[in-house]
Amino acid sequence: MKVKKAVIPAAGLGTRFLPATKAIPKEMLPVVDKPTLQFVVEEAVNSGIEDILIILGRNKTPIEDHFDKSVELELELEKKGKDDLLRNARDIADMVNIHTIRQKEPKGLGHAVAKAESFVAGEPFAVLLGDDVVYNGEKPCLRQLIDVYEEKQASVLGVQTVKSSDVVKYGIVDGTQIEERLYTVQGLIEKPRVDEAPSNVAVLGRYVISPDIFKVLKETAPGKGGEIQITDALLTLSKQQSVYAYDFEGRRYDVGDKQGFLEATVEFALRDEALKENFRAYLKDICRKL
Ligand code: G1P
Repeated sequence: MKVKKAVIPAAGLGTRFLPATKAIPKEMLPVVDKPTLQFVVEEAVNSGIEDILIILGRNKTPIEDHFDKSVELELELEKKGKDDLLRNARDIADMVNIHTIRQKEPKGLGHAVAKAESFVAGEPFAVLLGDDVVYNGEKPCLRQLIDVYEEKQASVLGVQTVKSSDVVKYGIVDGTQIEERLYTVQGLIEKPRVDEAPSNVAVLGRYVISPDIFKVLKETAPGKGGEIQITDALLTLSKQQSVYAYDFEGRRYDVGDKQGFLEATVEFALRDEALKENFRAYLKDICRKL
């Protein structure tokens, strides 16, 4: 079966970016001129996804507005003859079918994904986490995972190797490498201590999952942090059917972290045709002075 649907959980409070996120969802913070969530939505669209369910928390109406038609803005841009900006504003609204629901209580990522059951309606589906932005100018990260899903007809997690000091931040895979970049998953552990971690292979916010996960999620007890963890449900699933991990190609930014957010800002500015020349000169100059 083809993967046409994606779920993006966006119910987090964004406390790491306070005070900026007091009234603005963290997913709307821009890298250069684009909200981080739009990078994630574009990755899904460029990977062949046709319908996206965004799971919202409180205070998230700017997200709904961003992907909606803005009649006043379009009229104003049309009047002023700002055709490029007009096309841009229309593209955002026309990109894909966006659906939203609310996760009323923050009970964890597994709990959020469980809310997508009727949207997913028995099809394999992607999950993309908004804190992870992945740049690949040729083949989007999610497309790489969908290709694996379509070949193996089994769930696949997007992974990369991280530093030992970082394993505590991620779901960590105990796997056996079977092909270049591809592992079978034997074990999974959410945010282990370094001495508990079976490897440095971390799940980095991209999943393509069989709909069988919903039955498992119903029986998954709260885990790390007292929350229902998707990692725990995927571990149970891996005991029932094959689950793969794919070491995707691409530069991944943790935009939920200040350092990662700044790295994304600098690197996307350096990729921007209109900005790169002056910005590179500025960076060289400022680095010499520091
Ligand atoms: C979540 C997942 C974790 C995964 C990480 C990737 O954690 O629970 O397994 O490795 O995203 O960014 P969070 O960062 O939301 O705490």
